[in-house]
Amino acid sequence: MHVVRSVLELRAAIAAARAGGARVGFVPTMGALHAGHLSLIDRARAVCDCVVLSIFVNPMQFAPTDDLATYPRTEAQDLELAAARGATIAFVPSVAVMFPGPRVVAVVPESIADRWEGAVRPGHFAGVLTVVAKLFNLVQPDVAVFGQKDLQQVTLISAMVRDLDFPVQLDIAPIVREPDGLAMSSRNRYLNAGNRAVACALSRSLAAISQAYLDGVTDAAALRVIGESALTAHVALSIDYLDVVRAASLESVAVASHGDYVMLAARVGTTRLLDNHRLGDPFPALP
Ligand code: PAF
Repeated sequence: MHVVRSVLELRAAIAAARAGGARVGFVPTMGALHAGHLSLIDRARAVCDCVVLSIFVNPMQFAPTDDLATYPRTEAQDLELAAARGATIAFVPSVAVMFPGPRVVAVVPESIADRWEGAVRPGHFAGVLTVVAKLFNLVQPDVAVFGQKDLQQVTLISAMVRDLDFPVQLDIAPIVREPDGLAMSSRNRYLNAGNRAVACALSRSLAAISQAYLDGVTDAAALRVIGESALTAHVALSIDYLDVVRAASLESVAVASHGDYVMLAARVGTTRLLDNHRLGDPFPALP
């Protein structure tokens, strides 16, 4: 795997791959790689000859109260994992490489970005979309792979690609879960043993809603109550939001139907965790 840190090196490495006729796949990450990220590399490799993985903890998507300073940085291990999984190029820019001067222009989404995660983290999605747009312009991939766990993020990136005509095909990969159901996330490593056990309540809540829906419950308020009952038993857990939303608009629905999503965000101790599930799909079996 070729590790590059500057824009010039990145462009040269990609130009060399393209000159050999390679189709370029792209997996953007903030590092602290886990099995979920590695599944994104697998999907890119399945359809591309050259897979670019970026590792960049993007300061623009963290609010002053967020965990930018403590966000896990495990570059050496990430590079080993990515190389072993078959990534071709790792792009690891510094903040100065990505944001060399005062920034004047940003990609600012419409009000869909102000609800759910956006309500808790104002400005977060402008930070995400701006850096993803920059990375798309730098890598110019044929295919870019993102994880379904960040439902609002992938919804907004899909909208950006459509509305701003980025010539890239998006591939949205299913959530990868720990054996006990917890959705994989770099932030899971913040959890101590007690909170790690409590965190399983998120997937249990979604599993309960999923089953109730398959059993015929379509009233969104009733589904929320079913989901909440799996969560409220834990004093260390507080719900940020739990709702049934329509795909693409992410607007709450009163009556759930196939293809709607249940979105859940909760704090376990001081760690914020996200999860979601598409109604109508079976939820993976839990122990
Ligand atoms: O999902 C992430 O890791 C980040 O939001 C992304 C897409 C790499 C942009 O910084």
